[in-house]
Amino acid sequence: MPTITIKNIDNEGRGQAMFEGHDYRVRGAFPGDEVEVQVERIFKFHNIWASKAKRFVKKGPHHIKRSCSHTRPCPACPLHDANLELEQQVKRDRIINALKEQGINFEVSPVVPHPNRLGYRQKVKLMVGGGPGDLKLGVYVPYSHKFKEAGDCPHVNPAINQAVKELMPIFNNYRVEGLQAIILRAGQDGVAGIFVTTQAIPEVAWEKISLLSAKERIQDQKSNSLLGGVVGKIKGPGKIRSLEDGQLVDPEAFCQTDPAQAQRLYELVADFLWQGEGRYVDAFAGVGGFSKALLKKGACEITAIESNPVCKESLEALELSCQRRLASSSIASSILDPSLRWDDNTLGLVLDPPKKGLMDEAEAYASTGAKRVALVSCDPKSMAQDLKILLKHGYKVQKIIPVDLFGATPAVETVVLLER
Ligand SMILES: C[S@@+](CC[C@H](N)C(=O)[O-])C[C@H]1O[C@@H](n2cnc3c(N)ncnc32)[C@H](O)[C@@H]1O
Repeated sequence: MPTITIKNIDNEGRGQAMFEGHDYRVRGAFPGDEVEVQVERIFKFHNIWASKAKRFVKKGPHHIKRSCSHTRPCPACPLHDANLELEQQVKRDRIINALKEQGINFEVSPVVPHPNRLGYRQKVKLMVGGGPGDLKLGVYVPYSHKFKEAGDCPHVNPAINQAVKELMPIFNNYRVEGLQAIILRAGQDGVAGIFVTTQAIPEVAWEKISLLSAKERIQDQKSNSLLGGVVGKIKGPGKIRSLEDGQLVDPEAFCQTDPAQAQRLYELVADFLWQGEGRYVDAFAGVGGFSKALLKKGACEITAIESNPVCKESLEALELSCQRRLASSSIASSILDPSLRWDDNTLGLVLDPPKKGLMDEAEAYASTGAKRVALVSCDPKSMAQDLKILLKHGYKVQKIIPVDLFGATPAVETVVLLER
């Protein structure tokens, strides 16, 4: 096992150094560490030797005290024991590098720090490992089939950790088979669970599950999509009260990982877009976080665009609860919906697409004529590609703000504020 002195940190939060002509990427190591590494996989074409830190000869200046009982390094939280300075550097650099790749040169603001590093994650997806009677919850090590137990995480909402503690003995006592993954979401009124499985969970075990609500998703053995398959047994109300503001939502609807930071994100965007009365569009609306922040500012004409039908009920409820204030509102499932009209009256447009970005809808969104646009993205690469298209359509960047919604990981939300 070679001993290496780490020089840099990469986009995935791995320590990096050249050693004997190879590009080592070391999980769990940070710049300044002198570390004995174990090679996990070699990517010959790129000359990358993916490794993990095995033993520290000397620790550099970036480590903080660990608060986790899992063996390190954890694939789910690569920056778990990195200090705030390094964590923010990784996030900001990811944005700067992605912009550079698209030839965009604009200053990136300092990262808006997360309010809580521990206990903040309101939704988790845990894979199931082990065999019947000895099931474990965890995650897979990147680029491998190695399973790592991680069912009790200090970054996760404590109610979810408690739910895991109660669920696992049930599944193991009844030797449940076929379980592939468990998705848990915390709400103000309890925890909801989605159980992804290839076989129906036996009734005796199902009866013992005491979560607020539970849904079984039965998968075809070959399916890769966790939310595919057919819905089997359901119990409980099917909706939970969101941690953000108590709104009733389907646990399968998208939610930002950190509810407290999500509220800041919504307000930051609404503060920029708000220009007084007129039309605002919340595209990729989810259950309407940005719409609500705009309503609070006084907006009275909002259009939400959202493709996932499970979000629709929450958006409609939002519409009803605001009926007196809203002069007009509407919900569309796509920008291609013929009922959508685009005139010069659109004052503000939120674009908050999934990780893959705006894709083939980018040109259509860039052509709406909205005066101000907030592009919000969890993937720096697709953000920079989408931004390039908005710039081509005459928008000018006012600010690029990284917002930390994912403490202990290299993930970052970028907010690009644009005007024309
Ligand atoms: C990153 S989430 C943002 C949700 C919301 N803005 C929030 O902050 O909670 C992206 C949302 O876009 C929806 N979506 C995905 N593709 C879409 C499309 N082509 N048109 C409209 N909505 C889409 C997803 O269902 C998801 O709710």
